Amino acid sequence: METRLIKVNPRQPRRDKIHAAAEIIERGGVVAFPTETVYGLGANALNPGAVEKIFEAKGRPADNPLIVHIARKKGVYELAEEVSDKAEELMDRYWPGPLTLILRKSEIVPEITTGGLDTVAIRMPDHCVALSLISEAKVPIAAPSANISGTPSPTTAKHVMKDLNGRIDAILDGGPTRIGVESTVIDLTSDPPTILRPGGVTLEELQSVRGDIELRPTCAKIRKGVKMKARSPGMKYRHYAPEAELILVEGDFNVVAREIQEIADASKKDGKRVGIIATEESAVRYKAEILKVIGSRNDLATVARNLFETLRMLDERGVDVIIAEGFGSKGLGLCVMDRLRKAADRVVQI
Ligand code: TXA
Ligand code: MG
Repeated sequence: METRLIKVNPRQPRRDKIHAAAEIIERGGVVAFPTETVYGLGANALNPGAVEKIFEAKGRPADNPLIVHIARKKGVYELAEEVSDKAEELMDRYWPGPLTLILRKSEIVPEITTGGLDTVAIRMPDHCVALSLISEAKVPIAAPSANISGTPSPTTAKHVMKDLNGRIDAILDGGPTRIGVESTVIDLTSDPPTILRPGGVTLEELQSVRGDIELRPTCAKIRKGVKMKARSPGMKYRHYAPEAELILVEGDFNVVAREIQEIADASKKDGKRVGIIATEESAVRYKAEILKVIGSRNDLATVARNLFETLRMLDERGVDVIIAEGFGSKGLGLCVMDRLRKAADRVVQI
């Protein structure tokens, strides 16, 4: 299959281009498109044959459910069995935006879309290209991140091409995504509501709206030795991982830099090519062949935006080992650390 690359203006996409992509969705094909978080791989959420193609293209396990994307709020009432006041409050506040709600599914949602669950994940993305595509296709669009399962999520059309060229019908290229990490997934079928995956909307923000919201413990902690039943099926698989071995070093900032340099030196001695992910504050402390500054420790939005791009870029540079600094868990730090810990082969805590 040849993958068509369709370049679009992210703020004012041309109608004919959106139309071409929407037609593919209507015909039961798969199209990658930008959202404000990461690129999604979309198909008609209500067409089991089309959704099946998403799983095939990504190599995604069948029990890992997809997020259904809508352009208008009325879509929720069609896809969900019941919409509580809590759900209304969160939708009004955060949609369009990086918040995914888990609700009881209605009968129209096929089992394949929800990985066999009786709940459905729904979100309204905050991106003109995504919203135009959904409106033009006139169906809800199921879309996981547009990468091969297990690799870092795609934040540019180039990342999608690298993973999925020849496996999908088309890519709408609307440039790099603004947030760079996925949406926050919140389960509203549990009491209290539980965050299953931290993301673009922070825990603190959500708790300021609703004090009863809890964080699923495994989101914040290292899962070393702790076995819990995976409530969000996606959580049991290795995720976001670069090809290189990833070592994450967490702890007091001053000690961390020294430890990272030691690991880097030892790896180099072993004949390995090393890449260090540093911050603006720490960059001067390192001596390494490949040093990538991901942002400032005081600006986690930039760190989040650069995270997946940085992992992919270091793979492209052909490093064997990537060593990264940890961050605190305040604000977007929680989400950045969730991704880094899941991607890491080894977490060093000092
Ligand atoms: O920002 C995002 O959320 C991006 C863009 C494309 O919208 N999408 C995305 O999809 O990250 P994906 O498939 O890579 O991650 C969806 C997560 C998975 O961890 C999945 O297990 C969980 O949401 N999920 C989906 N439906 C669920 C359900 N019914 N119950 C529990 N977890 C669910
Ligand atoms: Mg994903």
